[in-house]
Amino acid sequence: MSTAPAVRSPVARDGAWTADDSAELYAVEAWGDGFYTINARGHAAVRPLLDQPLEIDITDVIAAATEHEVAPPMLIRFQDVLRARVRRLVEAFREAIAEAGYGNHYQPVYPIKVNQLHEVVEEVLDAGKNYRVGLECGSKTELIAALPLVEDDRLLLCNGVKDHVMLSLMLSAQQLGQRVLPIIEKYSEFEQLMQLADRAGFTPRLAVRVKLATRGSGRWFESGGQRSKFGLTIAELVRMVRVLERRGIADHLELLHFHLGSQVANIQVLKQAVRELAQVYADLKRRGVGIRYLDVGGGLGVNYGAGYGDEESAINYSLQEYANAVVYAIQEICSAREVAEPIIVSESGRAITAHHSVLVVPVIGTQRHEVEEDPEIADPDDTLVLRIQAALKEACNADDHVGELLEAYHDAVETRNEASTMFRLGFLAIDTLAAVESLYFAVCREVLEGLEAAEFEVPPAEQLELEKQLTDSYLCDFSVFHSVLDHWAIDQVFPVMPLARLDERPKRRAVVVDLTCDSDGKLEHYVSSLDDNTYLPLHRVARDERYYLGIFLVGAYQDILGDAHNLFGRLPEVHVYADEEEDGNFWIEKVIPGMSVNEMLAQVQYFPNDLNRRMSELVRRKIDADEVRPNVGMRILNDYKKRFAETTYCATEFPHGESGNG
Ligand SMILES: Cc1ncc(COP(=O)(O)O)c(C=O)c1O
Repeated sequence: MSTAPAVRSPVARDGAWTADDSAELYAVEAWGDGFYTINARGHAAVRPLLDQPLEIDITDVIAAATEHEVAPPMLIRFQDVLRARVRRLVEAFREAIAEAGYGNHYQPVYPIKVNQLHEVVEEVLDAGKNYRVGLECGSKTELIAALPLVEDDRLLLCNGVKDHVMLSLMLSAQQLGQRVLPIIEKYSEFEQLMQLADRAGFTPRLAVRVKLATRGSGRWFESGGQRSKFGLTIAELVRMVRVLERRGIADHLELLHFHLGSQVANIQVLKQAVRELAQVYADLKRRGVGIRYLDVGGGLGVNYGAGYGDEESAINYSLQEYANAVVYAIQEICSAREVAEPIIVSESGRAITAHHSVLVVPVIGTQRHEVEEDPEIADPDDTLVLRIQAALKEACNADDHVGELLEAYHDAVETRNEASTMFRLGFLAIDTLAAVESLYFAVCREVLEGLEAAEFEVPPAEQLELEKQLTDSYLCDFSVFHSVLDHWAIDQVFPVMPLARLDERPKRRAVVVDLTCDSDGKLEHYVSSLDDNTYLPLHRVARDERYYLGIFLVGAYQDILGDAHNLFGRLPEVHVYADEEEDGNFWIEKVIPGMSVNEMLAQVQYFPNDLNRRMSELVRRKIDADEVRPNVGMRILNDYKKRFAETTYCATEFPHGESGNG
């Protein structure tokens, strides 16, 4: 994806700031894809209905959620966005089909692994009922969940390793008349299926995943290609077809499938794979195999990075271009080989679910390097103190004289290093070290402000160094490992921005850190139009202010991949529907409580009865030993017992506090 031009950092500047400036800074238009915007109140808002201008202010949803006794951190699902994504996908294919004059239709299946939440799957099926949207599953549990949900001419495809239980379940479903197709991934699976079918006296319908020569592009490229762990080689496919032909049931092989891997970055690779599969189709069709469906798998990408940042967060095509690429590539081969055009199936998951949910996380503390220009100094005549004071004076007087600014910074660095060495060797009092540290950061801020004012085309190394040093940590009530696991695991970026004050200049360089006791528990990269995406411009948070960040596009995979690191667990969820007749244009259909301490502990085999008994015994021993007064002991015990029912995250009344670490 082409990298968009960077804009200048708003931090450390003054002057007017508007919602449009925020929209540009946080690149909302590109990743929001028409669903997210900033409203006249300077708040983040959602436009869930594609064909109507209706807007929902996310801050209003948070306020309404409190009436249901839910507060951030929480996940908001905009169900209409999910529906709109289904419609967009189908309409893109319909448009491509109409434009190309393609002789068949498009029929998507939703891979439930992307987000198995019942409400999500039901919503996708409901939104897709006029488009024959079916499901795809990849395990026994997913198959059991999906089986009763598909009827009539909706497809249920089953990928992944299948044991005899799964194959039998699918055969039974076929006997019921359901369009359930096992996608054969290994030759032995085919043999097992035929044995089971023979035993049941039933001729199965089946599908096959083909190992193409084309490899994917992007992070999951190994899901495709000859060395992929999935699919039949061409030799195995031909062998299978011969068996079917000998049995006189070649018309029961109904679908050919490939999957290049998720988040395909390059449309050329997709076109090549589709052409390759279409050639296989044409060959088999011409020899009388009854294939009706060509399934191009998942991989339709989402523009997480909005054109900024690394290539793997971006895609080089739009949804319409993707649909055009698939339709035209199949048509081209079918027309050259004079075979009927098949029904096109895709297994797009990420592109359907990513946009619909927003993670709302409260900032519960900020930590910044203390700038105390006039700190209390126990030893004002100390040479190091005098030197760093001189550096500060030089920086303050330098204005935008770059040479002087850099000299002041270099002096400050040297003095700080010396102070640190002397302290380690026992020659410097802690108070003096504190004063030097504090003055050092004052110099840094002065110098950085001066360098930024100089507006270099290529900033000096010192400026970049200072930008890194002067970022503040914004402690947020969430767990990266639970709610945005892909950020930690594969460095996937997710757009983040404040949900309010977007008409106010964000003057702090922030890094978002989570509650976990792990140094990896933070967001390392951000989506913004700045050159440097290792920090995010945010606002100064006032004491007791409820300052919320939205982490967007988290509806695909994140919900289900999240782990139990530090036992945080699932957040509460609020499911929202748009309705222009309601206050704020929405109503809350459902609230799902988050995990309690009790539930999380049970997962690792701790149970309240046992823990309470042990705690009672401990308190009793302390009382008996006269180490604690009985009423204090009982208060401590009762307080402990109450905690089992509570949220695993911080209590919502947690006051915001700012601390320095000079
Ligand atoms: C076989 C199969 N189909 C579909 C998908 C969904 O892919 P995506 O979410 O990129 O559309 C996956 C996930 O990687 C998959 O393995």
